[in-house]
Amino acid sequence: MQSLIARSAFVRSQAARVPVVRTFASSAARFQATPAEKPVLQKEFKIYRWNPDQPAEKPTLQSYTIDLNQCGPMILDALIKIKNEIDPTLTFRRSCREGICGSCAMNINGQNTLACLCRIERDSGKDSKIYPLPHMYIVKDLVPDLTLFYKQYKSIEPYLKNDNPPQGREFLQSQEDRRKLDGMYECILCACCSTSCPSYWWNQDVYLGPATLMAAYRWIADSRDTYKAERKEKLQNEMSLYRCHTIFNCARTCPKGLNPAQAIAKLKLELAAE
Ligand code: SF4
Ligand code: F3S
Ligand code: FES
Repeated sequence: MQSLIARSAFVRSQAARVPVVRTFASSAARFQATPAEKPVLQKEFKIYRWNPDQPAEKPTLQSYTIDLNQCGPMILDALIKIKNEIDPTLTFRRSCREGICGSCAMNINGQNTLACLCRIERDSGKDSKIYPLPHMYIVKDLVPDLTLFYKQYKSIEPYLKNDNPPQGREFLQSQEDRRKLDGMYECILCACCSTSCPSYWWNQDVYLGPATLMAAYRWIADSRDTYKAERKEKLQNEMSLYRCHTIFNCARTCPKGLNPAQAIAKLKLELAAE
């Protein structure tokens, strides 16, 4: 042990005597350590285009090719690159780029999802097809008209209703009651679920669709809300709720991993029990 301590003390004293010399060789090594430029990886994106200023022209699929090694990993990155560098007329919605605002919802390779959460497949032999959310009126290119969707959401009065809220203090809930809202309050209203539901495609004018129905149940399930009876009464008709035929596309497609089909099933049970 003593000889080990003595040797390390000797090494330290020697090191202290040797001046640090920055050589050409060491900076050359640093230069070699920088990563080599990645090879080009071309990928084709076929994107739905329609311009309201030329209403007589039919919608088309326009092709764009970009180098994936010069682009971020998500579909939204590709769309932004195309818009910035190739075609500034390409139109789409986006804001947060992290799955919170719900504005970049679109149909990517056959699935409704959020462009900012959807990775680009790095298979350059396979193109990616991008359409707007299906069965909606289109404002331009990838931008659907969500006027009806928001109107339906507004119709269920998506806020707490209580005529005697506590004054001057928080409106408390038990942990158990609070947990009943899990899996529903996280909805970002992206409309991926409603626009994947065949019942919604066919009866959009009268059927509320999974996103709005889950929101309706979110307030019915809230222990602090005292308007449950009125909320349920509004759904007691043939169309608003009962056009759900348990197809489950809504739960399969939700990019936030929520299950509107389950919320609708609970809603039907509660209404049936009355
Ligand atoms: Fe979007 Fe999911 Fe909410 Fe439907 S339930 S609107 S898919 S976040
Ligand atoms: Fe449609 Fe989902 Fe019901 S896909 S039919 S809302 S279970
Ligand atoms: Fe906000 Fe995609 S940009 S969810």
